[in-house]
Amino acid sequence: MNSALPNASLTRRGFLAVGTGTLAAIVLASCAAPPRYITPTGAAVRAGELARGGTGRIMSVDLIASPTQIDLAGTVANTWSYGTVPGSTIRLSAGDTLRAKLRNALPDDTSVHWHGLALRNDMDGVPGATQAPIAAGNDFNYEFVADQPGTYWFHPHVGPQLDRGLYGALIVEDPNEPLTYDDEWVVILDDWLDGVTGTPDEVLKELSGGMGGMMSGSGSHMMMGTRSDLLGGDAGDVAYPYFLINGRPPADPETFTSTPGKRIRLRIINAGSDTAFRVALGGHRLTVTHSDGYPVNPVDTDAILIGMGERYDALVTLGDGAFPLIAAAEGKNANALAIVRTGSGQTPLSASSIPELTRTVLTASMLSAVSHVALATRSVDREITATLSGSMMAYDWAINGRRFDPANPMAGALGVQQGERVRLRIENTTQMWHPFHLHGHTYQHVGGGPRKDTSIVLPGKTLSVDFDADNPGLWAAHCHNIYHAESGMMTILGYLAS
Ligand code: C2O
Ligand code: CU
Repeated sequence: MNSALPNASLTRRGFLAVGTGTLAAIVLASCAAPPRYITPTGAAVRAGELARGGTGRIMSVDLIASPTQIDLAGTVANTWSYGTVPGSTIRLSAGDTLRAKLRNALPDDTSVHWHGLALRNDMDGVPGATQAPIAAGNDFNYEFVADQPGTYWFHPHVGPQLDRGLYGALIVEDPNEPLTYDDEWVVILDDWLDGVTGTPDEVLKELSGGMGGMMSGSGSHMMMGTRSDLLGGDAGDVAYPYFLINGRPPADPETFTSTPGKRIRLRIINAGSDTAFRVALGGHRLTVTHSDGYPVNPVDTDAILIGMGERYDALVTLGDGAFPLIAAAEGKNANALAIVRTGSGQTPLSASSIPELTRTVLTASMLSAVSHVALATRSVDREITATLSGSMMAYDWAINGRRFDPANPMAGALGVQQGERVRLRIENTTQMWHPFHLHGHTYQHVGGGPRKDTSIVLPGKTLSVDFDADNPGLWAAHCHNIYHAESGMMTILGYLAS
């Protein structure tokens, strides 16, 4: 997304000018004065960070983004990663400060976005909005208080880099953890093509031409005819040769070893770019306890549907034997696989299909926030709408009729005022589902639903969510299908300068 930006200093200068009153040229060009927004490096953001307080403890990590290789059951693919795929899990306790030094050893600009965290805006990692892109060979020091416990993750916010191996889990532990469990397993799902059938940049280029003109020839990255009733029709646009759990394909699955009767907390993260997964553990029921890091009233289910960017935590009490954890690529007729082993017994086949996948499948609409994280009752001060439009034929994805322009990110921004209760209506006028993500906030689905930061919005439907505008800054809001986002389905939620 940064390719249109001439260089880092220009970006920053152009961006800071928005808040400093040097808008004469723009004012002349329009009939009404354009809104002024607070700046990511301004006093309101600093005050917000001070108010978070924190423990004062610092967790330091070095992240090196570099070209590397991944071994997919014997097929070695060139990719980019934070050392391994996934990157090492970053773990800290709520209130701790994360100090992450990113070294960019890639042949391209990059950044790190801390997905789901309500953090200080200038550390959110969105070039063109919250920082300059980190150029090849450069470093950037991220430092912020992580005050909300939960399951989060991190990835770049530059082009389709997310569809390479650049991702990892960020776990913020609750010092007063209310759940009891014996062990924990972070399960990261991904759709993989990088270095096998092409690169994400090649995919984006091909998709940008639109699916309408495409001939169904070999070498195409497009996938036609994916169907999912749960997703209301078309499931995805991109063909992937592999689906991974924790960086491993079904022919070389990860094994989680435990003992019968142990209670395990699963932290499931969909790091895919164009694939929703239906996740189930053969022979078990799952008790869902958290959506996108926030506690929900527990619900028992056989399977969970998880869109790109979403996270679910679930508890499971393990039986005796060897069991497949299957993440079925929704509508794409392929699976990711890992194994849970608590005893002897045959290792399940990678192709095994388990009945749980077609029993009860949980979606966010079945969940409700527990009372201590539900939003306080108050009236809505401002209603804003994000109308999603576009089609796969033209690949012209947009929000409120506007294709996001990284060179002019505040055009068409959604303005809110600090302190307001905001209702965001996400209106999907397209014929395809979209996993909509808002940075810097964890809204609540209206009607007592779950707290979330990424939600599946079905075709032809409108999802309304409420949040308190309590984290000043300029926040990206976009579809978490990275190819939709990079094709224009993105906007900025901006706090108005008063
Ligand atoms: Cu994980 Cu802007 O996204
Ligand atoms: Cu989308």
